[in-house]
Amino acid sequence: METISFFDGRKIPLERHKVRIVQQLTLLPVEERLERIKEASSNLYLLHNKDIFLDMLTDSGVNAMSDRQQAAMMQADDAYAGSESFFRLEKTLHGIFGMDHFLPVHQGRGCEKILADLLVKPGDIVPMNYHFTTTKAHIERCGGEVIELICPEGLVYQSDHPFKGNIDTQALARLLDKEHDRVAFVRIEAGTNLIGGQPFSFANLRETAAICHKHGINLVMDASLLQDNLYFLKTKDEECKDLSLREIMRAVADLCDIIYFSARKLGFARGGGICMRESELVDRLKELVVLNEGFLTYGGMSVREIEAIAVGLEETLDFSVVSQGPEFIAYMVAKLEERGVPVVTPAGGLGCHLDASRFVPHIPSEQYPAAALAAALFIAGGIRGMERGTLSESRDADGNEKIAEMELLRLAIPRRVFTMSQIDYAIDRVTWLYENRNLIGGLRFEHEPKILRFFLGKLAPLSDWQEKIAAKFASDLPGSL
Ligand code: F0G
Repeated sequence: METISFFDGRKIPLERHKVRIVQQLTLLPVEERLERIKEASSNLYLLHNKDIFLDMLTDSGVNAMSDRQQAAMMQADDAYAGSESFFRLEKTLHGIFGMDHFLPVHQGRGCEKILADLLVKPGDIVPMNYHFTTTKAHIERCGGEVIELICPEGLVYQSDHPFKGNIDTQALARLLDKEHDRVAFVRIEAGTNLIGGQPFSFANLRETAAICHKHGINLVMDASLLQDNLYFLKTKDEECKDLSLREIMRAVADLCDIIYFSARKLGFARGGGICMRESELVDRLKELVVLNEGFLTYGGMSVREIEAIAVGLEETLDFSVVSQGPEFIAYMVAKLEERGVPVVTPAGGLGCHLDASRFVPHIPSEQYPAAALAAALFIAGGIRGMERGTLSESRDADGNEKIAEMELLRLAIPRRVFTMSQIDYAIDRVTWLYENRNLIGGLRFEHEPKILRFFLGKLAPLSDWQEKIAAKFASDLPGSL
């Protein structure tokens, strides 16, 4: 692992790329930020991108592409059937994961849809380390139930456990001994999204695979965030520290039966796919791909994106590429911790996660604390984060709120997009907001969709707290945007 140390002893992540194409950003004055959040019904998905200064909503589809990816896109082979671009990606994936088949799918949730359609029937259960929103929605749509078996440390906001994404293998073994007939498959998510981008350890994955295979149950990996998990295996797992990223990737894949991914994340482009070993499921899944996604040599993706994914996946095996995200996140988490702002620790992948349960403890869960914090941060800095808390849950069958186990505001750091001074700006505005946290109030739904309500829901503040934040900002930082 090559490192670069600063002579003056500072520890700051150093970009290992240079910027050659830029996109102009606008920072609206605070009064306009207030207007825009009101027009968007306090739901940051409903903002226009042009009104946002730092878009920390997600890393999905917004990672910066490399010159090599862009060059590959120019030589894509456009064909409905038999595109060479597809065969190049298939070969790359075979080389990386060593699996027999690759089925292209337009994005991650497309993989989840067809896997659930094929494997989940009413009454089934799907044990997993932790759910992801779209995964759970598809399993439940097919009549299945998600059983979360995250290790107890996984739900502790501040901890020094290096592998909070581990599944509780003892609980899994007990469950499978009792209920194996009802288990559709076991799902393990790399870089566990909803609990702060936290990784699993190699030993945990190996034990999980052994338990599944004892019962002849498929181990399915959601590899959308595998690049971050790889970084943590390389840097924190004794078992992996002397292996190359390629060797770690292969060792991980060797334990799984099916690997699916969103290439909006893994591969730094846009698309997705399912890799699997030879089994009687392959032909049935192929039929579902053709029915839902497109022909088997594009699966709903543009051939240009297919080329970009193939190159992006190779780049994921370069430590100087995959380390950039987690190192920026660790920097941001450490600086916020120094200032007393509650954040999820240890720093994970994907983004810096603010602990809304301690940031705004005065807001009850039913008033969506993390969503309120997200709206407040947009007013304070033109920064768009993503609520990962109670608003992202769905109500139970009786219409009661399901209170999230963790109430987080995720500030995603898409790879190779932001500079250090932009990160410092985000740290500054979060710190200002923390000093003024008592001004933040709750939200209520004005329009609540039944499925994945956080995407399209319309909310309203419970008082004039948003105006108060804008006014305080203007008086604390006069003349500043
Ligand atoms: N699985 C995981 C772990 C994800 O993080 C995502 C998407 C998906 C599946 C679905 O993939 O968006 O390509 O359909 N996560 C995005 C995010 C949306 O912002 O965390 P998709």
